[in-house]
Amino acid sequence: MRIVRTVAELRDATLAARTTGTGIALVPTMGALHEGHLSLVRAARAENALVVLSIFVNPTQFDDPSDLAAYPRTEQRDAELAGSAGADVIFAPSAAEMYPDGFATTVHVGGPLTATLEAAGRGTGHFDGVATIVSKLLLAALPDAAYFGMKDAQQVLVVRRMVRDLGIPCRIVACPTERDADGLALSSRNTRLTAEERERALAIPRVLRRVAEAIRIGAAGKAAAAAPSGDPAPTGAEPLADHGAFETARRRGLAELSAAGLDPEYLAIVDPEDLTPVDAPPAGGAVLVLAAARAGNTRLIDNVVVDTGTPVPR
Ligand code: PAF
Repeated sequence: MRIVRTVAELRDATLAARTTGTGIALVPTMGALHEGHLSLVRAARAENALVVLSIFVNPTQFDDPSDLAAYPRTEQRDAELAGSAGADVIFAPSAAEMYPDGFATTVHVGGPLTATLEAAGRGTGHFDGVATIVSKLLLAALPDAAYFGMKDAQQVLVVRRMVRDLGIPCRIVACPTERDADGLALSSRNTRLTAEERERALAIPRVLRRVAEAIRIGAAGKAAAAAPSGDPAPTGAEPLADHGAFETARRRGLAELSAAGLDPEYLAIVDPEDLTPVDAPPAGGAVLVLAAARAGNTRLIDNVVVDTGTPVPR
């Protein structure tokens, strides 16, 4: 495994694979690797001849300087883990390599994807920072596919939009969220939690599961009511049958997060394609339930995709 620090070195390290067209994968990260990142490396390894993992703590996507300063930096350990999961090249550039003197360009993805949820909580500059650095990383590595975790579901949508809009010839692969045995979504930020905060943070996946279950039951009840046989709706959780019922589930979920000692920022039930709020069980297809909450000073996010049955054609 090779560690390179400049775009020129990265181009050199990827030249042979590019020439033979055997498939180059990029796994963009900010380091502090955990099993979630390694699952992306493994997925990339299974589908490509060359796997590049980038490590760059991107200053432009942080809205809070103390968050940037506290972000864990563990490059040597990261390189070892990435290598053992199957990465061939680590691209670990300096800030000056990515943002040279006089840097004056921002990639801005407009529209509803960057007007809500994480953008509301972290400021609109967050996704400008993400879009700008991801486009630079894609231009540096020129990969056939780039791998992202679904824990950052909104980021995946923003990157997909950007790649489509700019015509960047790269497939964006979204991989499932990895979780600890107790359900907590893996995140580099989890290392900052005290044992007690970590215990409280378990309310996030628990609330997401509860809301997801209520949506499934509501959707199944709706489908059963519409079916000629009138099959009864499954029982076990309170069904969400009508408009406004999602709002009730959302409010209950927020109350449960607060009662667990967290400081919730949002709990949202949205369309997984465009993030518009969904307020009743769809007749089929999926909905996305997302949450952001602070445990002490640590801001955590998580989400679940709820498949409610036969996909609705779009
Ligand atoms: O998800 C992350 O770790 C970052 O947002 C990314 C995609 C590496 C861009 O800095």
